Amino acid sequence: MIVGLVHPGRMGAALGALLVANGHEVRWCPDGRSPGTAERAAAAGLTATPFADLLAAPVVLSVCPPAAASTVATTVAEAGYPGVYVEANAISPARTQAISGLFNNPAVRVVDGGIVGPPPRPGHSGVRLYLSGPADAVDLVSGLFDGTAAKAVGLGPEVGTASALKMAFGSFQKTSRALAAVSHALAADFGVTEHLRAEAEAMGGNALADPGHFPNAAALAWRWGPEMREVADALRAAGLPPELAEGSAAVLARRTPDRDDFTLDTPTALTHLHHHPEP
Ligand SMILES: NC(=O)c1ccc[n+]([C@@H]2O[C@H](COP(=O)([O-])OP(=O)(O)OC[C@H]3O[C@@H](n4cnc5c(N)ncnc54)[C@H](OP(=O)(O)O)[C@@H]3O)[C@@H](O)[C@H]2O)c1
Repeated sequence: MIVGLVHPGRMGAALGALLVANGHEVRWCPDGRSPGTAERAAAAGLTATPFADLLAAPVVLSVCPPAAASTVATTVAEAGYPGVYVEANAISPARTQAISGLFNNPAVRVVDGGIVGPPPRPGHSGVRLYLSGPADAVDLVSGLFDGTAAKAVGLGPEVGTASALKMAFGSFQKTSRALAAVSHALAADFGVTEHLRAEAEAMGGNALADPGHFPNAAALAWRWGPEMREVADALRAAGLPPELAEGSAAVLARRTPDRDDFTLDTPTALTHLHHHPEP
């Protein structure tokens, strides 16, 4: 099959290389792109074509900076593209749905995509390509990656579902790295990095993989919130960013009605996070 790719960045070129290795022709358009993109595309075995020829592909894959996703989609839609458009960028469900609405051509089927994992490389662990949208289009896109290091996972018929998973995972993954860096910076200032590392190793576990701790955390939030304000003060005094600690305190403040209620179950604890009014 012919696949159009907008554009061959680090992730797009890596996915394109998998498709080429699977026997597909992957077209990209050099207009406006940098030498770095051209080098990645050549190394991945992609075919440079005018934009109109790229749009002759029955499947177009959008893998670009999230901030450019709407502009890229608008360009494709306004050119009258009639095929399957895979919106595979890290954008919100609402933005993905708005992008879906850009396509007036009734022949277009928009597939929502969420990519999780680093760009796939031979000999390394793969990447997951979560897909949601019309079943036949999801199956078509999944089939392109059959047997490759990109594992396609269907998430049902709604455009927005795959983006929601990407947002939920990315929120934790990116924020936890930022949090860890702030903690290390504060510990380094006071010469206690090795103790911080030791405590981190003793703590173990993975907060995202273990929802069972949410009720306990909800019951204790009334005490943790003020502690986070102390953390913010310590960070501010060290010239480090206090915003994440302050944000955490604000989230914990929503838990005030759950104070010392150790009877909550996990779904209820999550529901309360939704419905408690802003402090
Ligand atoms: N890289 C990862 O580890 C990873 C992991 C999971 C998901 N993703 C997702 O994959 C998508 C792309 O990430 P990436 O790492 O491949 O990005 P990237 O390496 O920065 O590449 C982005 C590509 O889009 C082009 N581009 C840059 N600015 C543009 C603009 N304003 N309009 C149109 N095209 C533009 C770039 O071309 P020029 O630079 O030549 O202009 C480049 O070819 C993102 O949505 C990201 O969230 C990436």
